[in-house]
Amino acid sequence: QSNAMWGGRFTKQPDELVEAFGASVAFDQRLAPYDIAGSIAHITMLAKQGVVTLQESATIVEGLEAIRSEIEAGDFVWEQALEDVHMNIEQKLIERIGPVGGKLHTGRSRNDQVALDLHLFTLDEVATVDTLVMELQTALCDCAEHYFEVLIPGYTHMQRAQPVLFAHHLLAYAWMFARDRERLDGVHQRADLMPLGAGALAGTSFPLDREWVAKELGFTALYENSMDAVSDRDYVIEALSALSLLMMHLSRLAEELILWSSTEFGFIELDDAYTTGSSMMPQKKNPDMAELVRGKTGRVYGHLLGLLTTCKGLPLTYNKDMQEDKEGLFDAIDTVKNAVRIFTGMIATLTVREEAVSLALREDYSAATDVADALVRAGMPFREAHEVVGSMVRYCIEHKKPLTEISASELKQFTELLDVQTIASLTPAALVAARHVRGGTAPAAVREQLRLFREHYLSR
Ligand code: ARG
Repeated sequence: QSNAMWGGRFTKQPDELVEAFGASVAFDQRLAPYDIAGSIAHITMLAKQGVVTLQESATIVEGLEAIRSEIEAGDFVWEQALEDVHMNIEQKLIERIGPVGGKLHTGRSRNDQVALDLHLFTLDEVATVDTLVMELQTALCDCAEHYFEVLIPGYTHMQRAQPVLFAHHLLAYAWMFARDRERLDGVHQRADLMPLGAGALAGTSFPLDREWVAKELGFTALYENSMDAVSDRDYVIEALSALSLLMMHLSRLAEELILWSSTEFGFIELDDAYTTGSSMMPQKKNPDMAELVRGKTGRVYGHLLGLLTTCKGLPLTYNKDMQEDKEGLFDAIDTVKNAVRIFTGMIATLTVREEAVSLALREDYSAATDVADALVRAGMPFREAHEVVGSMVRYCIEHKKPLTEISASELKQFTELLDVQTIASLTPAALVAARHVRGGTAPAAVREQLRLFREHYLSR
């Protein structure tokens, strides 16, 4: 016989390269715990339904548990000739307990089996990522709280715009990550469908109790269409999409940490544990981890686009193309989990260089909007006020002085509606305090924001 699993129909061994090219066991062995859990539920149900005897089911369960221990101990020998995780385990089972092991696959196909494994994997991993992101949000909130008094310049177009609380800036990311977690939860909801019973594509003639298996494995629902069950990879694509957005947010934060820790900004210092030195330049302290997360964002996007492309022309139902769904998902999950863990540590250990930020705030012209607003309150139309303050800023830049240090005689050249005290009072702290609208950067508003955030996203 040429192949232990389907030898009957064949007279030849596969070509050597065909075997290597077609095998997935090198990576899908990672699904073994789910494969075994699924098999145990399946055979237990077959016994309950009288398709196999209780004795047979008990022997098979015992064999599967022994194999599980062998895998956990690292003693299991995976064989490429057996193609994938499913056939490796089934073959080992038959070797171990004899021909009765061949009853396990009754009413089942590798098509619904692999679908089951990947659903279980996705559900587990998505929940883990969710927890890790919550830890990152906690680190962001703690850092925001710790540096609550610190103001930094806020930017648009990468030009200084208006001062903000450092906490406000950090919390912006915490909210983005909150939506990432909501998306992960959506993935979880839609991946929560049990495919077994679909067989190869059309269902099975054995009296399976699909509801029982679903419940046993912790699913809340099952596929209502067997062809959908073995064809669907939507949930994998959706997971990759949610992970891509999460990486995009991490990557933007990475970019800011890199900028802020440069000599030019000097706003923060990253902890030594999250930076590296240079082999040549002794003075260097490089934000490698932030850069690497920014860089690895590309590969996660790549996996999303890869699988979307793989699936776009596939007719129903299972096609071998679909074996390409796994490596990208595995890599995306591993990449995201490590990236989030590293960011949690990086945020928890960074220090803000408060003198540098306050110096930066002194040098900018971010009081301009509020000077214009003061003119508006004194009766001037905003467009006119904008023009007047624009000329004042140009004058101050030419004379190398902050807007708030303009003298009374200088001010007269521009407007009679304001006095210097009003302008001098527009310190960064005053500008920030003035923005007390809900969601604004005033300390009271940010306090409330932080409270809301902790209440909704961190209390679990
Ligand atoms: N290794 C396969 C995969 O990953 C399992 C399903 C194979 N089914 C089949 N009929 N060839 O998709």
